[in-house]
Amino acid sequence: MSNKPVTVVAIDGPAASGKSTVARQTAQALGWVYVDSGALYRGLTWKALRENVDTTRPADVIALLARIKWDFFDDQHSIRFTLDGEDPGQQLRSEIVSKAASDIAVVPEVRTFIVGELRKMTEFGSLVMEGRDIGSVVFPDTPFKFYLDANPAERARRRAAELARPENEGRGDVAQVLSLLTQRDQKDSGRKTAPLQIPLGARVIDSTQLGIADVVALVLGELRQAGAAP
Ligand code: DC
Repeated sequence: MSNKPVTVVAIDGPAASGKSTVARQTAQALGWVYVDSGALYRGLTWKALRENVDTTRPADVIALLARIKWDFFDDQHSIRFTLDGEDPGQQLRSEIVSKAASDIAVVPEVRTFIVGELRKMTEFGSLVMEGRDIGSVVFPDTPFKFYLDANPAERARRRAAELARPENEGRGDVAQVLSLLTQRDQKDSGRKTAPLQIPLGARVIDSTQLGIADVVALVLGELRQAGAAP
């Protein structure tokens, strides 16, 4: 492990708040490593579904967690992983995985494991990490915390537009997306362990009226002002 000091930028917020794009572009602008923490929750869910493990049974999910092997690697400044040597790829984004991921995300043992893996990622260098509990639980001491939000109707509109792209098989009904999004928000905010919340000291950015480039500029501006970025 290198002893080089690293900086972590934590970007939290609800589903479809724009945090993935903002985090990815911020990392790119800085030449830092992008981490999508939700992908780890999705990865375990994907594996559970493949092995017919019932994601609503915490004991079964914990048993699965104990027998699988994760390998993390840096792919062009973005962290990817294999599970027992297999790359889950785009299957992580499927609706069935999205839905079941919020079941496994409530299991404290799962969270402890994933939080540990996320903390180890500083071995890859300075990070821009997005999620639900990055500024509150994973890296509570980082001075760079952002909480990105947008009103639910706008988030549903953005997610529906994303789903309607040909590579996502063209399903993008705004009303249905809004209903699923609201359910997921409630699950993520209402759970006992590490609920979605505004981390202490986070800068809240409402992106309802802002473009991605504006939000990235705000984040980079704060880092530069603190002397943490060129
Ligand atoms: O951000 P996402 O949609 O990829 O997240 C997938 C699920 O994992 C979602 O239910 C929220 C959960 N999650 C979490 O609990 N904590 C994180 N840091 C990231 C995601």
